[in-house]
Amino acid sequence: MTLSSPGVPSPSGSREAARSVSARLPDFPWDKLTSYAERARAHPDGLVDLSVGTPVDPTPLVAQEALKGAADSPGYPLTIGRPETRQAAVDWLARTCGVIGLGIEAVLPVIGSKELIASLPGHLGIGPGDTVVYPELAYPTYEVGAVLAGATPRASDSLVSLGPERPALVWVNSPSNPTGRVLPVEHLRKMVDWCRERGVLLVSDECYVECVWEGTATSVLHPEVCGGDHTGLLAVHSLSKRSNLAGYRCAFVAGDPSVIGELLAVRKNLGLQVPGPQQVAMQAALEDDAHVAEQHTRYAARREQLKLALVGAGFRVDHSEAALYLWATRDESCWETVAWLADRGVLVAPGDFYGPAGRHHVRVAFTATDERVAAAVSRLSAAG
Ligand SMILES: Cc1ncc(COP(=O)(O)O)c(C=O)c1O
Repeated sequence: MTLSSPGVPSPSGSREAARSVSARLPDFPWDKLTSYAERARAHPDGLVDLSVGTPVDPTPLVAQEALKGAADSPGYPLTIGRPETRQAAVDWLARTCGVIGLGIEAVLPVIGSKELIASLPGHLGIGPGDTVVYPELAYPTYEVGAVLAGATPRASDSLVSLGPERPALVWVNSPSNPTGRVLPVEHLRKMVDWCRERGVLLVSDECYVECVWEGTATSVLHPEVCGGDHTGLLAVHSLSKRSNLAGYRCAFVAGDPSVIGELLAVRKNLGLQVPGPQQVAMQAALEDDAHVAEQHTRYAARREQLKLALVGAGFRVDHSEAALYLWATRDESCWETVAWLADRGVLVAPGDFYGPAGRHHVRVAFTATDERVAAAVSRLSAAG
């Protein structure tokens, strides 16, 4: 390709070309919330930020100590990752999710799961003419990854409604961001069967699998869902929420060894390596369940208090059995609810960030400190 080839920017046109890639992507939603954040910040008792859902409690000591112990790290890490870290992921999947029959060749560490989700379609050669399906209410990065690869994004909760169309990739996300909904085993099994019959790759984003408050969440790799056969299936896991490790960027993808092998072959050309000290911290965090139980208790209390306060203030909370959010509505436009809460110094995410079906809901994250959650509760109680 020469510099004058179509699609290749000349040096003077490179800024325009760069803009044209970003122009293909959906608007970065959080920018739309800025004026409401200012409004909420003006509250005399300060802002309660329940919008983004970033962890605020300390990174567990077990991970901090492991990171410190591995600080001397002069050499390049391998894209495939340390065998010990991959084994810890295999053991954690078996212990926590009941996934059996995985070897370490079926696990690849990634630099936070968002990076993997955004790049996976392109890295697997999915592109123009291909369709990528994701839930109607969804984490926006599934669409970003499809669009970036030049594929057609398609939000649909019903695979049957696709008719004879054969997508290249289907995303499932249970527990769901933003709704907190958990899909039953039967539903997941039907998705696996549908994808198998058509040779479609099914990728399951399971980053909230340990953040469940009512019922149980099941991995797509569980034998009850996939019959013990991982062909055509991937599960994406992250330590960001489970272990307050969002700042370390530690996640992994596991499943069909041939797809993992292909991702590895591409990613090693791109230098997509999880730093060595982070891999050691990831191993330590995966081997420890005590900090997860502790964090679960914290979140459960915050969730309960906020849920009661929202209901007391006239909201209805739908789904929300799991993940770190309450999916709440006053049966009005989500932006009216965002404004109403901003006037009380509480910032939440409008449901339409996640798809048009969310236009009457807001997503209330319970990832604030106990003190900030108590402030939100008292403001909601005064309004109720
Ligand atoms: C559904 C879902 N997937 C993936 C991610 C990305 O997590 P991370 O990149 O921290 O692993 C998030 C973060 O909020 C999420 O909600």
